[in-house]
Amino acid sequence: MTLPTINPTTTKAWEALKSHYETIKDTHLKDLFLEHPDRAQAFSIAWEDFYIDYSKNRIDQTTRALLLELAKEVKLEEAIHNYFGGGIINETENRAVLHTALRTPSTNTVTVDGKNIIPEVDTVKEKIKAFSNEIISGSRTGYKGKAFTDIVNIGIGGSDLGPAMITESLAYYKNHLNVHFISNVDGDHVHQSLKNLDPETTLFVVVSKTFSTQETLSNATTARNWFTQHAPIEAVGKHFVAVSSNIENVTNFGIDSSNIFPLWDWVGGRFSLWSAVGLSISLSVGYEHFEALLAGAHEMDEHFKTTPFEKNIPVILGMLSIWYNNFFNAESEAIIPYSQYLHRLPAYLQQGIMESNGKSVDRNGEPVTYQTGTIIWGEPGTNAQHAFFQLIHQGTKLIPAEFIGFKNALFGDQDHQDKLMANFFAQTEALMNGKTKTEVSKELSSTSLSQEKIEQLLPFKIFAGNKPTTTILVNKLTPKSLGALVAMYEQRIFVQGVVWNIFSYDQWGVELGKQLASTILSEINTKQISEHDSSTNTLLKRYLEKSNS
Ligand code: F6P
Repeated sequence: MTLPTINPTTTKAWEALKSHYETIKDTHLKDLFLEHPDRAQAFSIAWEDFYIDYSKNRIDQTTRALLLELAKEVKLEEAIHNYFGGGIINETENRAVLHTALRTPSTNTVTVDGKNIIPEVDTVKEKIKAFSNEIISGSRTGYKGKAFTDIVNIGIGGSDLGPAMITESLAYYKNHLNVHFISNVDGDHVHQSLKNLDPETTLFVVVSKTFSTQETLSNATTARNWFTQHAPIEAVGKHFVAVSSNIENVTNFGIDSSNIFPLWDWVGGRFSLWSAVGLSISLSVGYEHFEALLAGAHEMDEHFKTTPFEKNIPVILGMLSIWYNNFFNAESEAIIPYSQYLHRLPAYLQQGIMESNGKSVDRNGEPVTYQTGTIIWGEPGTNAQHAFFQLIHQGTKLIPAEFIGFKNALFGDQDHQDKLMANFFAQTEALMNGKTKTEVSKELSSTSLSQEKIEQLLPFKIFAGNKPTTTILVNKLTPKSLGALVAMYEQRIFVQGVVWNIFSYDQWGVELGKQLASTILSEINTKQISEHDSSTNTLLKRYLEKSNS
């Protein structure tokens, strides 16, 4: 049960999409709406408390039919079956990809190597629950008998971004515990974070699947040194816990095996927040909310698994992304959440999407001859409007944008919410319609400007429009809806990886830099620079001069 290995460009649908693209590429969205006033109904999906409007995309019925045909021709259905069924779809690491099993109900069975993994998953969940309850209630204390006030998550990549993004996103649901995240090996990060902490009331959660990551081990060591400067060494056991699949390395580090929350090799780092990697989430918002997050994700998994492609959210979104990447040659995509709580979502998705699908060799081991991966970027609206929206509206690049908004504000301030959402709706309308020469002319004519000035200004004030957007409107930001939203992106990553015929679940591209850094670090330590290129040599010499002075 692996993944099919079909080069998408050899399919009939790909060829058909290429010629179809020629017929639709210059069609303006405004005209598509004029021709088909019911586009909003035809190109939208209502699911649970989500409403996905993808009608403001540069597609028609034929485009959608061909994109879904492409999904069929590359055997997406079979791929989904093999993925959820525990097939070794991460072939280059010889692993199944089963983060979905972490959110499946206990009554379900998921088999890996002939063994049902759910009982083991449940045991770890029980441990997370019991531990979170004890820390939150104060029944489990630090070495001086004081309740914990601060939690420090030490991890990087998937061992940081997931828990950090969810904790920020669910800040409204947070309890009294202050949760901090230390990720960067930049010593200023760890020292700045430790500066105001009280060792007697601080709990460190060291998160590293491999427990071999330089950044995390350095930060954990610095944190432990800081701790033991203030507290007896025996107290480490009460203040340090670990989340890892490498039990040996954790115990060598000095963390007691009873303080280890395990995870498994079938959980990829960037998909791990649903596992014990989410311990900081559970500590921050309580286990019930963590469970609701998992439940929301599971509902999205079920939707993905069982819904026909025409109404399948991750399939539709993934295929739209393929359309822009491979046919319009769009270079990037923006994700704009209209919620300040979601300000880390774009950074989180950068890892999820770019580490997964930034690949140039296909599943047959051949170089791909088409674009893969999408460059993801974004910031919350309305801040983004005052930063980079100019480029989306009037720049030379085509940037499909996804707008995520919520009907209800958490604090219930309707005045702010209406203003926020007015911007949310206005931007997608403006990006689609633009402003014609006639409209600008008419507008300027009603001012006191001279005709000469009007003529001068005209070209700068015209907006071409025709910029594609997708609107994701959700009832309310809750743990459950957030879980579904994140799972929606995870499954979309899968869809695109299948179509592009690449392995989405390895990340060999991050290894080379790690190897070279380790060589350079020993050169820095011994002050012996070996032969690099002249640029690297000079930079290293200048760095050493600086640190000697
Ligand atoms: O950046 C590479 C990577 O392996 C990510 O995939 C992973 O999330 C991160 O490093 C951290 O790895 P670990 O949890 O093993 O410390």
